[in-house]
Amino acid sequence: MKKIIKITAALTSVLIFAAMAGMPVSAQSLQKTAGDKKPIPSEVMKIAQKSCTKCHIDGGMGGLKFTEWDSYTQEKQAAKAKAMCAKVSGKIMPPKNFVKKNPGAAPTDADIKTICDWSASLQPVKK
Ligand code: HEC
Repeated sequence: MKKIIKITAALTSVLIFAAMAGMPVSAQSLQKTAGDKKPIPSEVMKIAQKSCTKCHIDGGMGGLKFTEWDSYTQEKQAAKAKAMCAKVSGKIMPPKNFVKKNPGAAPTDADIKTICDWSASLQPVKK
């Protein structure tokens, strides 16, 4: 009888371990990498290509250049992402007359949320 209990306990701990190892990758990597230096995720890059890169790659206007993103420090990436969220939320970026000429480039509400959620994930964890 005792032996069965022992085996059950051992099995249970193996199962718990396996469950932890099988945790969704996103949850794991979020915990591990919040605040780390990261490339721009493709869903954000898609929006940037639609709405921002005309000015923020070739022009590098306003000190934001997506092609140099990966060379930014972790702090700079977090700060730039935060500024992007603020500017698109406030409809300051893309500039109004640019949107007027390129109506298709206006970010949707979902686009704005994608940028802001991503920005939030980059902010350093408060201690
Ligand atoms: C038509 C050109 C144009 C487009 C399109 C555009 N921007 Fe800008 N952006 C500028 C200019 C010019 C500045 C600098 C103006 C200023 O500082 O007031 C700027 C500044 C910024 C800044 C401030 C940079 C900093 O380091 O504080 C951010 C952030 C920004 N843009 C984000 C975006 C995002 C995000 C998009 C797309 C959703 C976008 N911009 C689309 C021209 C553009």
